[in-house]
Amino acid sequence: MEYSWHLLVGLVVVAISAVTSESVNRRSSTSRVDNDVDYRLPNNTIPLHYDIRLVPFLENGNFTFGGEVTIDVMVVEQTSTIVLHAYDIDIDNDTVVVTSDNVTYAISNKTFNTDLHFYTLNFATSLEPGNYSIYIEYVGILSASMEGFYRSYYTTSSGETRWLATTQFEPVYARQAFPCFDEPALKARFTISIAHWPNQTAISNAAVASTSGADSTIENRVWTYFETTPLMSTYLVAFVVSDFEYQSNDDESFRVWARSDALNTTTYAVTVGQEILADMNDFTGIDYNLSFSKMDQIAIPDFSAGAMENWGLVTYRERLLLYKDGVATTRNKQNIATVIAHEFAHQWFGNLVSPLWWKYLWLNEGFATYFEYYSTATVETTWRLAEQFTVDYYHPALLADSLETSHPINEDVYSPSEINAIFDTISYSKAGSVIRMMQHFLGGPVFQAGLQLYLQNMAYGAATPDDLWEALTTANTNMSSPILHTHVDIKTVMDTWVNQKGYPLVTVTRNYTTATQEISQERFLLKGRGSSNDTTEYKWWIPINFASQANIAFTATAPSDWIRSQDDSVVISGFSPTQWVIYNVQQTGFYRVNYDDTNWGMISSYLQTSAYIIINVLNRAQLIDDSLNLARAGYLNYSVALPVTRYLTQETSYAPWAAAFTAFTYLNTMLANSTGYEDFKTYVLSRVTPIHESLGHEELSSDEHITKLHRLSVNSWACRMGSTTCREKAEELLLDYYSSSDPTDSTISADLKAWVYCEGLRNANTSVWNFLWERYLATDFSGEQTLILSSLGCSQDEDILNNYLALSISTNSSIRSQDTSSVFTSVYTASPSNVDVAFNFLVNNYEEISEFYGGMNRIGSMLQGLASRVVSSEQLQRLKDFVEEKQDVLGVALTSAQQAIELAEENISWLENYEADIVEWLAEEVAAIDEPQDSGSERVSFGILLMTISIGVIGFI
Ligand code: BES
Ligand code: ZN
Repeated sequence: MEYSWHLLVGLVVVAISAVTSESVNRRSSTSRVDNDVDYRLPNNTIPLHYDIRLVPFLENGNFTFGGEVTIDVMVVEQTSTIVLHAYDIDIDNDTVVVTSDNVTYAISNKTFNTDLHFYTLNFATSLEPGNYSIYIEYVGILSASMEGFYRSYYTTSSGETRWLATTQFEPVYARQAFPCFDEPALKARFTISIAHWPNQTAISNAAVASTSGADSTIENRVWTYFETTPLMSTYLVAFVVSDFEYQSNDDESFRVWARSDALNTTTYAVTVGQEILADMNDFTGIDYNLSFSKMDQIAIPDFSAGAMENWGLVTYRERLLLYKDGVATTRNKQNIATVIAHEFAHQWFGNLVSPLWWKYLWLNEGFATYFEYYSTATVETTWRLAEQFTVDYYHPALLADSLETSHPINEDVYSPSEINAIFDTISYSKAGSVIRMMQHFLGGPVFQAGLQLYLQNMAYGAATPDDLWEALTTANTNMSSPILHTHVDIKTVMDTWVNQKGYPLVTVTRNYTTATQEISQERFLLKGRGSSNDTTEYKWWIPINFASQANIAFTATAPSDWIRSQDDSVVISGFSPTQWVIYNVQQTGFYRVNYDDTNWGMISSYLQTSAYIIINVLNRAQLIDDSLNLARAGYLNYSVALPVTRYLTQETSYAPWAAAFTAFTYLNTMLANSTGYEDFKTYVLSRVTPIHESLGHEELSSDEHITKLHRLSVNSWACRMGSTTCREKAEELLLDYYSSSDPTDSTISADLKAWVYCEGLRNANTSVWNFLWERYLATDFSGEQTLILSSLGCSQDEDILNNYLALSISTNSSIRSQDTSSVFTSVYTASPSNVDVAFNFLVNNYEEISEFYGGMNRIGSMLQGLASRVVSSEQLQRLKDFVEEKQDVLGVALTSAQQAIELAEENISWLENYEADIVEWLAEEVAAIDEPQDSGSERVSFGILLMTISIGVIGFI
């Protein structure tokens, strides 16, 4: 298991930045395995129905299960073999029987292929096309691996350990619970029966059909029999045996399950969940209850991903479902609502209509990511989720997709490790962002009608992107006045976005004499123009629109023009040479925009006037994200990009600040060792101080939802950039708490804990650290556990940190395996000096770490995390020495270790290219701030002047 992109961004929340989800473990691997082997099942046999009977043994010391499956199949062409998936289960070969119409077919031999996970039945004589049934008995292990049919546990308030058995099948683990045709397009119906103790409940995708009395053949366990499901993919099958309880709606068709001690934290999920399901019913025009008569959601104590959309039985990490008033943060609450929306969107996009193959995973995850925010927004209407979408998903997608190593949204994958690897930023965030782009260039009505048609056409089937384009095209044609230009073909456009990696940089070059603008496209690369040896011609169909100072068209998101893939450039005319233009209104197109220095200058100056608010808030976030990434990649000088951030002294909105904090996070890492670091801190602090002062560190009853998110990141940044008032306040609040008589009654508001704990711990002694560690051990609310774990790495004391790191790889630390990775990340993201502490720990303990995680894989991802923070040649050298010395033992981690060295080398060469420019700009800027006459406010008033005098006359810069 390795870190996901969510994890990597997520943990920074506490340390410094403001982002969306917190950590989840997402499997990923960058290595491609040998494609000469065929991982796909032959298509001679199709499953129709599975009858599965399971008996889990959940007693300490005996974590196994017995299974029995009858699969009705249709042989579609004559064959002498039937190939199924099975992995890590022990099939009793003697029990296997294949029949058709009461005739038994002799099996000459049965073979396992453990690489391909194939179980092959070879028949003495060929089977003719027709219906057959395959019967198999087997046993399996309820492992602690969080995949397949696995075990989890919790401790009751009286200290008793209780076990549960649960499932995680996506993408390729159903085969670890029962032999099956484990590919998403091979849909079948499932009839499931589970035996369990009378004091336990079994739940599954479908509702309970009936139950039995004690069965003496299995120590008087009882049986729960479930109704037969509609046609569905194997990866969506789920079942849980536990002693959990639930809260529900009146007719109990919508239930939320948790261990009984946590039952009172399920209320929010019951309420918001029903509202979101109703919204999705509405949007799709297809009633969820046509497929299943009930919806169960359940919080699982040990869970590998964040949540899983099993049809009718959605499983979650505890902190993504359980909400505890007063203890949970605003971010926790938002995550709960949006994760539910994500998984509920899958009930249509993924479950009703599944991808034909994992290559089209984005048809699941892209839509789920899109609805995660846009469906929640219909229920939680004041949360400003549209603004948050761009900074949480769209900007990170632009960043990830600007790497040479990116991949197309439609990516060929075959092996399990390749399949796991595409659960990434491209399939989630890029696809979600490209879907949002479609919504805007088609218009809401066509978009919705097209999606409804797609779902109707493909219901209970498996789709490709072409099915989607076709439905959208039909919907567009049916619309009486579509907004799409008639020369634009949806499939032609979309193929350029889903079949090639990367995205365009649109460059606007203005001719101030002729009042024309030439607009061209090229692929944007983070390492800079010309940094790639790739000779492929990357060109896109790009929807274009713009606003200008004279025509403030920031609400019109429909494209006014298109750059076609065959166009090198287009020319647009008719703008006043003395006024700015801004392209990509509300940043709905998936691309960056660069301008000539003059236009950038006009934008920067205008932002510093009181009229800055006229520029749409999403475009303000865009200007920051684009300019600083263009500079980072060498397309724009820092001396032009950094001035865009000057206006932040007057910015109060969340999205532009979130974009700025992301950009500053990079610079903060890179400049950590630089002579200009103090100037950097002074500059950022000077920008952040006004908003820091106005938000303060106290919650107000009048606070908007987003203000609470904003206050946390602003306070974290103010402290980090050296504000002594901030640091003193955090220390005071933590010490008050530490010395209070009742540690269960904290006066620190939940939303500020991450800031108070982290900043308060920096200079705190061991007993304060221990105090918080005790709070970690004492709470059984998962949201709070994660928050504390992520703060404990903020200490700057080497002994404390080493002790903490050691805990994370000790088997009796009481940190759940799903959470251990937060520890290492929380240490090295907390400060530049902690990077060295974490690195030394890794060097000194690599054997123990690999033993704890059962392999070297984790070392690889740890090295990469550290490498992204390497900023000195000494650090680089130490990294190289370690990898060289240990190359024989690194094994599977060697490739990622080598990539880590590359990452570190890139940092060093970036510094060689850009550090001097940045340091010079910062020095001048800081000198200007320090001048008695505050030139910052002069700039503002000059800007206001610019605006108030009839603007057309004054050329700026
Ligand atoms: N289908 C995924 C769960 C999943 C992730 C299965 C990776 C296999 C591998 C689920 O819908 C999902 O995307 N969950 C997210 C949570 C979310 C709100 C982004 C996750 O686990 O990170
Ligand atoms: Zn998903």
